Amino acid sequence: MSQPQLAQLDSNGAVISVLTNPLITIILGVAAILSIYQYWFHSQRYVKLGNQLPGPSTIPILGNAHMVLGLSASGIFDLVVRVYHELNCEVARLWLGPRLIVGIGNAEDAEVILGSNVHLEKSPDYKLFKPWLGDGLLISKGEKWKSHRKMIAPTFHSSILKSFMPVFNKNANNLVKQFKNHEGNIFDCHDYLSSATVDTLLETAMGVNKTNEENTGYDYAMAVMRMCNILHLRHLKFWLRPDFIFNLTKMSSLQVSLLEIIHDLTKKVIKRKKEDYFDRAAKGESSLYTEAVKTKFDETKGHIIENSIMNNYIRDDLDENDENDVGEKKRLAFLDFLIEASQTRGNNLSDEEIKEEVNTIMFEGHDTTAAASSFVLCLLGIHKDIQKKVYEELKQIFQDNMDRSVTFNDTTQMKYLERVILETLRLYPPVPVIARKVNEDVKLVSGDYTIPKGTTVIIAQLLIHRNERYWKNPETFNPDNFLPENCQERPYYAYVPFSAGSRSCVGRKYAMLKLKVLLAGIIRKFEIISLDKEADFKLQGDIILKREEGFKIKVIERA
Ligand code: HEM
Repeated sequence: MSQPQLAQLDSNGAVISVLTNPLITIILGVAAILSIYQYWFHSQRYVKLGNQLPGPSTIPILGNAHMVLGLSASGIFDLVVRVYHELNCEVARLWLGPRLIVGIGNAEDAEVILGSNVHLEKSPDYKLFKPWLGDGLLISKGEKWKSHRKMIAPTFHSSILKSFMPVFNKNANNLVKQFKNHEGNIFDCHDYLSSATVDTLLETAMGVNKTNEENTGYDYAMAVMRMCNILHLRHLKFWLRPDFIFNLTKMSSLQVSLLEIIHDLTKKVIKRKKEDYFDRAAKGESSLYTEAVKTKFDETKGHIIENSIMNNYIRDDLDENDENDVGEKKRLAFLDFLIEASQTRGNNLSDEEIKEEVNTIMFEGHDTTAAASSFVLCLLGIHKDIQKKVYEELKQIFQDNMDRSVTFNDTTQMKYLERVILETLRLYPPVPVIARKVNEDVKLVSGDYTIPKGTTVIIAQLLIHRNERYWKNPETFNPDNFLPENCQERPYYAYVPFSAGSRSCVGRKYAMLKLKVLLAGIIRKFEIISLDKEADFKLQGDIILKREEGFKIKVIERA
């Protein structure tokens, strides 16, 4: 019987024997190749510049990727916050294998990226959204993004938003009825806010009335939630990112069925709107689009300027659209406009592109607002004194008629509620990070660092919004942070829940208005109770920020 090879070694034969062992030869070969790779890797300009930035220590090949292995969504979130505090810095780098990721937690550097017209391209991570959102506004780049943004931004003009008030009110009333069914019990308010938000979007942006037999909002909202979970998992478990691996998993077939629910609704909505358009054309009615674009700009007509603290927000194309209001111009809601534009000569908008933009608006417009309103309710349930002030303000506005519909004018008087919403978006921004790919070197202003071309830059609103250089007691929920006198000294980019600059959120004004109507509707009727404290929130740095344990509240009807 042959002896194990090592046992046979004498001092002369040892080296020869080891080298002739194929396993050991392979190991040594791989180690040599890895060493050469590491040497080459570290000599690259990209890597040298990246390594000048502070960051946790790395291991060969994986960089920092091992740190996130096996962590849950809330675990990753805690890790990022911990690393940021441990390094005691406002900019940090992370290596995911050879990929450099730089996180920014201060307003000055955020401005360099968000305020620029150069760094507008989204990071490659957004590609996972492609099967769902195609090349819609959130993801598209270059000329396509520019021309579509120019078309879509005016469809969120204040005068259109005003016309949505009856729909916002109707959905607020529906929510009140649903909450009433849960009176006295603990329930997850997010499910209801999510489906109410879908229904509102269907009626406002899409101009489609929900028919009674359809449970559209709920099914769609659930499908979106599950799609977000899949995408989030693929972001975390980077080995699932390549399609050829993902397609081998069960999740891939689940994704197919979820996208079927989501895209079916989109197709239905576009079909209905197109039928309307052709009906009108057959009756010889003039195109709303042609009327809309032929009206001349008239400076003498009244401007509709938001009477709001949000006027302190960084100006963008939405403000320009509002301030250059054309008075009598017939304005079209989002989908009407896209359909009419696509049928009008000179516009290059295919059916596929309309579908992509509809999916994008439905995604961006719904989950964000649902998370924001859910956080507001949980926080009001915890901070009873603040809830009392919100209610007092509503009593002053509505006097002895707490049941009447909320008007646009009422919303401009909801100053305290507005501060509560803004403060909620500060501590719990529904979009917790924005990722851009920089196609040029970026010189940071906070320190002598250069982010090399090709890097993924993460603007971490969640960290900027809790940076104590801009916020007193940053971890404390305090709506007075948004009193005008407290905003004056603060840099604009210290508060960017809707992003900022040319790629800011097109739905910002829509979201604020809708949040006010929905929340006022609920708070007028119910006292909100939370059983948890803020310290119990397990934040899930998902695509949209959520509470891992759900948004549990209890409601009691007010006397
Ligand atoms: C509280 C609610 C909302 C928050 C916090 C929010 C936040 C944001 C943020 C941070 C971005 C930038 C994302 C990025 O660059 O990756 C964004 C983009 C966008 N949002 Fe919102 N959003 C909200 C509501 C809405 C609503 C209601 C709509 C539409 C009805 C909407 C439509 C969009 C679109 C289309 C974009 C892409 C804009 C572009 O790239 O040009 N959002 N939003």
